[in-house]
Amino acid sequence: MSDRIQHKGLKAKVMSAEAAAAMIPNGAVVGASGFTGAGYPKAVPIALAKRAVDERLKGKPFKVNLLTGASTGPELDQVMGLTESVAFRFPYNGDAVMREKFNAGVIEYQDMHLSHAGSLVRYGYYGRPDNKIDFALIEVTKIREDGSVIFSSSVGANTAYLEVADKIILEVCEWQDERLEGMHDVFSVPGQHGERGPIPVLKADDRVGSPYCKIDVSKVAAVVMSNYPDRNAPFKAPEADHKRIAQHILDFLDGEVKGGRLPKSLTPLQSGVGNIANAVLVGLNEGHFENMTSYTEVIQDGMLDLLDSGKLRIASATAFSVSPAGQERFNKNIERYRKQIILRPQDVSNHPEVIRRLGCIAMNGFVEADIYGHVNSTHIVGKGIENGIGGSGDFARNSAYTIFMSPSVAKNGAISAIVPFATHIDHTEHDVSGIVTEYGFADLRGKSPKQKAKEIIEKCAHPDYRPLLNDYLKRSLANPSAGKHSPHMFEEAFGFHNRYLKTGDMRPKK
Ligand code: COA
Repeated sequence: MSDRIQHKGLKAKVMSAEAAAAMIPNGAVVGASGFTGAGYPKAVPIALAKRAVDERLKGKPFKVNLLTGASTGPELDQVMGLTESVAFRFPYNGDAVMREKFNAGVIEYQDMHLSHAGSLVRYGYYGRPDNKIDFALIEVTKIREDGSVIFSSSVGANTAYLEVADKIILEVCEWQDERLEGMHDVFSVPGQHGERGPIPVLKADDRVGSPYCKIDVSKVAAVVMSNYPDRNAPFKAPEADHKRIAQHILDFLDGEVKGGRLPKSLTPLQSGVGNIANAVLVGLNEGHFENMTSYTEVIQDGMLDLLDSGKLRIASATAFSVSPAGQERFNKNIERYRKQIILRPQDVSNHPEVIRRLGCIAMNGFVEADIYGHVNSTHIVGKGIENGIGGSGDFARNSAYTIFMSPSVAKNGAISAIVPFATHIDHTEHDVSGIVTEYGFADLRGKSPKQKAKEIIEKCAHPDYRPLLNDYLKRSLANPSAGKHSPHMFEEAFGFHNRYLKTGDMRPKK
């Protein structure tokens, strides 16, 4: 028996993944761990997906409602998407198979601000009439003698699911390093609406909770041993355009330091996921900012580089999501990283109160931005969902600096990231301080909508699209029925998108 289960009573609850999956009935609401491909359960979801197929072969329906922290990996979202064993998914997904099912109308999806997820679940919006959910399915590295648990590579919404679930299934993952113990800071956002106290995180370094999570041991229905690795996708070396985007951001921050608006250590950094975000971190490592901190959602490879070089002092997040090489480096230096990395529940890592207090610098990717600075982070041509808003709204609304970044075009130039009117708006112009592409940084602070439009078109649009956007703006300004504050000609506002849908290219045929 594994020494990772130190509670005597829970040792007796060890069973196969199949036996645990057999306890979950059709229609159950399952709150699973997992955030950005880290710390999600693997063995039980695989068994659950097989079970869904078997039940269906017997002519019986089988689907669950699946709640998580954020995106997971193939052993959860992909297998359950492929087998269509999910009826409803919340609050974020990054898996391509699951995405296809949403966009085909087979699985319902609610994309939600990640800081809100725990509270909404605690209030019962996703559960049964008694406000509870059926199962919490949580990956842990260890069960302590008193039954409390040490989470694995993410904390996410675990505490909410453990609190409101009727029954708990724990997956004890031996692939996860036991020395993660001490890295978590478990703090439950207290109280009901109107009665909540402050979250006492005053600096990115502050630990305000406990390294373990107390659970109600009597609710544990099953303990399953597993040895699956996290998703651990490799990172690409930054491409030329990504490096240019990173350089524009570094130059902007440099200007803020020179202008006396930011200290040389900057304010805590929030960095989205993906290759552009990683390129910015690489750029920061080569730059001259020192003694930085980060208050973010996810720690990725670039942040390990910054910790290793000593430029970053502390990294606070809710998940740890690195490449296989990053994982090796992490395990090798885990004793040092344990002092520098703090993993918090997502309702603390993404909490508006803390983000506003710390004055974070938020840097996230976007799908499209319009000439007035409204940003679409989620929808392709306004209809199909890509991933979800994730934490971008939590940080965009509340940070001191809110920067959105993307290459100026997608699909070999057929799509412009800068459009007259965004087809879906996740972040309004009021929340956006800067938009960056490989062509430049549009600084939107202190500008009216018309001034923003000029800045965005000149600094960010691809040269193929710049004349088209200027023409739209010029004609809108001259058109008496287009308005004078944020002029728009509605019959043409989605002209780029309509042309793309008709011809496969936003550019008019020459
Ligand atoms: N129209 C159509 N497709 C577009 C597009 C557009 N305007 N912009 C991007 N895409 C496509 C890309 O072509 C690519 O497709 P592919 O996978 O088929 O190649 C895909 O969207 C991803 O774009 P990419 O350029 O690789 O950027 P990315 O990996 O940095 O992702 C977002 C960009 C916006 C999708 C991503 O940042 C995201 O999901 N953001 C929302 C959540 C978030 O911000 N999380 C962090 C908060 S803490």
